[in-house]
Amino acid sequence: MQATVMTATLLGVDALPVEVQADVSSGLPMFGIVGLGDTAVQEARERVRSAIRAAGLQFPNARVIINLAPAPMRKHGTGFDLPIALAVLTATKQISASLVEGATAVGELALDGSVRPVPGMLAHAYTAAQMGYDLLGPSAALPAAAVVGRVRCRIVDHMSALRCGDIVSREPHCTEPFDRLSLPDLADVAGHDGAKRALEIAAAGSHNLLFVGPPGSGKTMLARRLGGILPPLNDDERLTTALVHSVAGVDERPALAGVRPFRMPHHSTSSVGLIGGGSPLRPGEISLAHNGVLFLDELAEFGPATLQAMRQPLEDGSITLVRADGRVVYPAAFALIAAMNPCPCGYLGDAEKRCTCTEAMIDRYMTRIGGPLLDRIDMRIRVDRIDPGRILAAAEEEPSESVARRVNKAIAFSGDRPPTRALTGGRLLAACLPNRAALTTLETLARTIGLSGRAVTRTLRVARTIADLAGETKVTRDHVLEAAGYRIGDTV
Ligand SMILES: Nc1ncnc2c1ncn2[C@@H]1O[C@H](COP(=O)(O)OP(=O)(O)OP(=O)(O)O)[C@@H](O)[C@H]1O
Ligand SMILES: [Mg+2]
Ligand SMILES: [Zn+2]
Repeated sequence: MQATVMTATLLGVDALPVEVQADVSSGLPMFGIVGLGDTAVQEARERVRSAIRAAGLQFPNARVIINLAPAPMRKHGTGFDLPIALAVLTATKQISASLVEGATAVGELALDGSVRPVPGMLAHAYTAAQMGYDLLGPSAALPAAAVVGRVRCRIVDHMSALRCGDIVSREPHCTEPFDRLSLPDLADVAGHDGAKRALEIAAAGSHNLLFVGPPGSGKTMLARRLGGILPPLNDDERLTTALVHSVAGVDERPALAGVRPFRMPHHSTSSVGLIGGGSPLRPGEISLAHNGVLFLDELAEFGPATLQAMRQPLEDGSITLVRADGRVVYPAAFALIAAMNPCPCGYLGDAEKRCTCTEAMIDRYMTRIGGPLLDRIDMRIRVDRIDPGRILAAAEEEPSESVARRVNKAIAFSGDRPPTRALTGGRLLAACLPNRAALTTLETLARTIGLSGRAVTRTLRVARTIADLAGETKVTRDHVLEAAGYRIGDTV
């Protein structure tokens, strides 16, 4: 007796279709799963057996072989539990084949027979929609299907529902909204007008930004407030960001509601946690920050190898992880914001306190970060301690809300133009329309301060954002001068 049930396995943020074939024949009782399943897939045997019995159904006292096809592709995770159970039940005629026909099933089984969601439900819903199938799984599939659209759901929250052949077809719908976190406000920060301006530009153009300064000057405070002035995600970005979050098992509702990711991993985070990898494979913080911002506080404390691994995604907007069983690409188009002290003691360049570091110590400190990474940072801003009188005066500062309004206006001004981060060469020039004065200024600056080709490109992109904030179609000399000012300023 044989039966087939469709499901899918995750590769990166895609769910690839897999056929679960069950063969139940007489012979010594055994239960085997072949077709390159990982440990979680092998362990499905115990969960499937118990869940079927807990639901009051029969696990066959026979030879049960499950084949996962295509066989050469590796299969990961606990989402195979439900399709395997359904294949066994169909092969033994305990449920009608029509229940599983035209559907792709996914769900983890508990020993008591309940069905649970797995990471990547959104990707599964997406694949179901593309194949023209229904999505068969726990209720948690409903919001995912609602987001994707064009997909119907068959819901099983407990295996016992199958006993009466009862799989409910339900209309996809979104669950209750999440509570928006209240973000810290820029109005709390006294002074630092230059750094605030840089935050505004970084938010409007998704530029990389580094704050350098002595301890307690307000770098962390400023950087954390970038999250509150970011523009909302557009429709495309919502889905691509939510897909990554869903695959990683992170709540995807904020992304679906348009909240741009703002991730701030601690410097003790492992390289795998930051870049992605591990087994089962999981996207890292750089991918969770896709279409948003990654904040690395105390940049020099991060592992040098980890920092160097960020060079490729910073340029390409994606990360390729090479594993024994092939390559996986996760999206990772993020803006980097980082903060650091200028030297180990923290006071290099401070107006009052003397730096006690030796030159060798400072060199060693800076090489941890490395030139190539610094070259990818569009704006480097010195954040000095401000006058204590200014903090104590508690003067009124502009709130994040009004800065965010300007950011959104700049984005609206840029219209349908592709984001400048994706533009180089002729296409960047066409987007910037720099006048002659702007071009000669940039060229002279590049020669005198020795900007790399990348730095020239990045400066022009920042100038484009500055022009957007000013509501101007053409990049002028002033825009270029301001942009270049953020690159030099012997900050590091
Ligand atoms: N400009 C400011 N306005 C208001 N409060 C400030 C300002 N600068 C610093 N502070 C106060 O000082 C605290 C420390 O600031 P913050 O943590 O941002 O320093 P930092 O520059 O990140 O220092 P470190 O290099 O030690 O990490 C803040 O939580 C805040 O209370
Ligand atoms: Mg700090
Ligand atoms: Zn020092």
